[in-house]
Amino acid sequence: MSLQRAISTLAISAALALPAAASDYLSTKVRFTSDNASASTRVVFVPENQSIAIEGWTAEQNQAIARAAGIEAFTGAASQHVTLIAPEDTQADHLMLAGVGNPAELSRFNAEKLGAAIAAALKPELTDAVFDTRLIANPGVAAEISAQVAHGIDLRNYRFDRYQSEPKARPETTYHWVTQSPQVAERHYDDYRAIAGGVFVARDITALPGSDGYPEAIVELAKQAMSDLDIELTIITPEQVKEMGMGLLESVSAGSQHGSYLLAAHYKGSDEAPIALVGKGNTFDTGGYNLKTSSSSILRMQTDKAGAGAVIGAVMALAKQQAPVNVVAIAPLSHNLISGSATLPGDVVKAGDGTLVEIANTDAEGRLILGDANWYANDAFKPRAIANIATLTGSKVGALGTGYAAMFASADDLRAAIIEAGKVTDEKVWELPLEGYPGIIDSPLADIRNIGSPGTQAGAAFLKHFAGDTPWIHIDMAADAMVSSPTGIHPAGPTGFGVRLLTEWVHQLNK
Ligand code: BES
Ligand code: MN
Ligand code: ZN
Repeated sequence: MSLQRAISTLAISAALALPAAASDYLSTKVRFTSDNASASTRVVFVPENQSIAIEGWTAEQNQAIARAAGIEAFTGAASQHVTLIAPEDTQADHLMLAGVGNPAELSRFNAEKLGAAIAAALKPELTDAVFDTRLIANPGVAAEISAQVAHGIDLRNYRFDRYQSEPKARPETTYHWVTQSPQVAERHYDDYRAIAGGVFVARDITALPGSDGYPEAIVELAKQAMSDLDIELTIITPEQVKEMGMGLLESVSAGSQHGSYLLAAHYKGSDEAPIALVGKGNTFDTGGYNLKTSSSSILRMQTDKAGAGAVIGAVMALAKQQAPVNVVAIAPLSHNLISGSATLPGDVVKAGDGTLVEIANTDAEGRLILGDANWYANDAFKPRAIANIATLTGSKVGALGTGYAAMFASADDLRAAIIEAGKVTDEKVWELPLEGYPGIIDSPLADIRNIGSPGTQAGAAFLKHFAGDTPWIHIDMAADAMVSSPTGIHPAGPTGFGVRLLTEWVHQLNK
């Protein structure tokens, strides 16, 4: 074994020896209570233009806070927050005021973002903090906001620090939520916590470096992460991929010592036909012989498995919520490398459904593995809908940049639901047309080829071919899988884009 391989084998066992992500990152404790609690830091949620009267504080103490808030121009407008020194004899050192505007109109996402901003402002060494939502008059609204803000705190507190020998301390704070309807708040929070667990697994999958996060390693990671959930896992090995004739999926790993896998994770919470979430798991994208030749284009191509992370995370979230839905995550996993056995540009490969595909560009590999995965989804699960999600094309980044994913849809109900889910979660989608590009993936040599113009539409057309008659949507999330600096609910690093979107999409479809 070469030294390089020995090192990477060590690193993967070290990475996988760590506790499963979901429980790990949620080690902070969250309690909901209707009794007042005290802690050195108190966060008070203030509706806009409401006087701040904290229970148990004297008129003088409350006046001191009103004065300080005025000096800081704090009005309670949504997303405002300011940290003050608490008045003497209030059992608190710091008082943070957090604005919620008109509480009934505060959106889920703005509440989550407020939570993220609070998480960034709190000192990580705090042992406990009190969050007081009792100035919000409507108990139902206060309960929802409590859960959403707590969720935003969880999302922002995530760290991918497996590769740091001395990681920064993670917050181990106990958060006491003081609110009129603690049971209602806790019920909402449990649903969000399920989503956070899925987001963290997706972020871990996205971030694992290419030599450690190869296809089989992702299978192992997913197996561990899902072990305590009611999910039936099917693993298709490289030998089985070959036997089943999934030549497209097989071809992408032909140049790697790590063969292609396909993972199917089925959560059956209802007797309806399943919804198939099919996500791109290319564990590293060198481009193959159409090599990515600039340092910036090849760097961070371990994030090319973010689609797989998104579908695995979404199914985990729905299973943890025990949602009454039937949903299967399907992740084709490949390692797009070069060697004497790698696929060559111009090769013709037979897909699982028999289509002969001209591999006109080995860097257009995502559609190849997803094509076979869509065929497998139809063949094995007879789904009522297929959603593809992938870091698929550079052209998507050119058209929409980051922050919006490109979306294609073949059915009105699926389209409406994904647009609504995008608004609710702020994982925004923008539809591109697919009609009106005749011959976009025609091949002069074989049945179809894997490239065409415009690039994002060509990728979508290829995927749609393999979805057959099943109602279908496709989300091209290229460049949305990672942020270089902290952004709202995301610390710097992997975002887990798609988990919140797809989870909400499935809920919308089952309304
Ligand atoms: N994984 C890339 C797409 C990508 C680019 C993701 C930038 C994130 C950031 C994909 O496999 C790819 O290489 N696409 C090529 C296709 C082309 C060769 C037809 C592209 O879009 O440049
Ligand atoms: Mn590529
Ligand atoms: Zn790729």
